[in-house]
Amino acid sequence: LESSFPLRFKGGRVPLVLAGFGHVGKAFFGLVLDKGNYLKTRYGFDLNFRAVFKSDGGLISDAGITSENIPEETRHNLTRYPNWKPGARVEAALRKLKPGVFVECTPSDIRTGEPGYGHIRAALEAGWHVVTANKGPLVADLKGLRDLARRNHVFLEYSAATAAALPTLDLALYSLAGAEIQSIEGILNGTSNYILTRMGEGEDYAEALRQAQDKGIAEPNPELDVQGWDTAVKLLLIANSVLGLDLALEKIKVKGITRISPELLEKAKSDEKAVKLIGRLVRSAGRWKASVSPEIVDRSHPLFGVNGTNKGIHFVTDTMGGITVTGGKSDPRGAAAALLKDIIHIFALAHN
Ligand SMILES: NC(=O)c1ccc[n+]([C@@H]2O[C@H](COP(=O)([O-])OP(=O)(O)OC[C@H]3O[C@@H](n4cnc5c(N)ncnc54)[C@H](OP(=O)(O)O)[C@@H]3O)[C@@H](O)[C@H]2O)c1
Repeated sequence: LESSFPLRFKGGRVPLVLAGFGHVGKAFFGLVLDKGNYLKTRYGFDLNFRAVFKSDGGLISDAGITSENIPEETRHNLTRYPNWKPGARVEAALRKLKPGVFVECTPSDIRTGEPGYGHIRAALEAGWHVVTANKGPLVADLKGLRDLARRNHVFLEYSAATAAALPTLDLALYSLAGAEIQSIEGILNGTSNYILTRMGEGEDYAEALRQAQDKGIAEPNPELDVQGWDTAVKLLLIANSVLGLDLALEKIKVKGITRISPELLEKAKSDEKAVKLIGRLVRSAGRWKASVSPEIVDRSHPLFGVNGTNKGIHFVTDTMGGITVTGGKSDPRGAAAALLKDIIHIFALAHN
């Protein structure tokens, strides 16, 4: 985090604009409304939705969208409210409204970065802090977006895009400060880990994938999860943010879990081992190498016990030894909680 803070909010009110009202957007919306009083008491600020967008329009309110004017039982369908504007665009609202925090939760397109890339650029240019669950824009141009944020004296945070509730960036940047990271291994995709765990218990692949989709944890396009690309993208964002690399997605060797046979999982189990989709960053002859691949791990491996929708990351450092963190709720509410954490870091921690 940087330390500049150009925005001032009377009475601690922080305007929010949310783009994307699917699994994560809805979870974030509900979380902020549910935790409104706690956030005021604990952190002294009042997160106030000024606009919420879907693909076909937006709900825009001068007074703010609050739990009083959006009762819980009707929160899932914003189009029924009087201020719903069909065809309203995110960029136009960001240019018009007084800046606060822009929350980006539209689908991740890791080829073009759109529509999130255009949203985030417009937000940063108009002086909004940005928190994003959407990985696409970060893959498209992390460096350019970070430079744009710096030039506009605002924050761009993306915990929710780098394994969400599992702390990865915070841990490496804060808790490991001063230590040199020698390698990173992670189970970074809840969907693949869930599928591998269920298959290890005898479920077939298609049924395990369907269950992951029902839980709302699979990407809108689950091919990204099961072919290893979601893990690769998170590895890339962690490498480029924490290790200061300029890794490109094409440089990561990626193999997913689509060809894993039930027999291999059974064999691993009978040998008291497990198959995990591991994202790995290792240094060899002075160069970092990145890969994603299913691996058979034994009980001594720090990520052996990471099952179901859980994730995990293991850092090896020069002065602090090995540090592993596992768990972190892999569901839309966990992702929403990571977005909220980034907002709290921006306002409550970095500026006190
Ligand atoms: N699901 C998870 O657990 C999870 C965890 C971490 C990160 N993520 C990331 O979070 C993001 C959202 O995931 P999700 O599962 O919530 O996806 P989702 O359920 O498909 O929701 C996407 C939302 O974005 C809206 N949208 C699409 N294009 C838009 C545009 N141009 N302007 C405004 N809104 C637009 C869609 O509108 P309509 O409602 O009109 O279709 C929908 O409301 C993705 O980038 C994903 O990679 C997801």
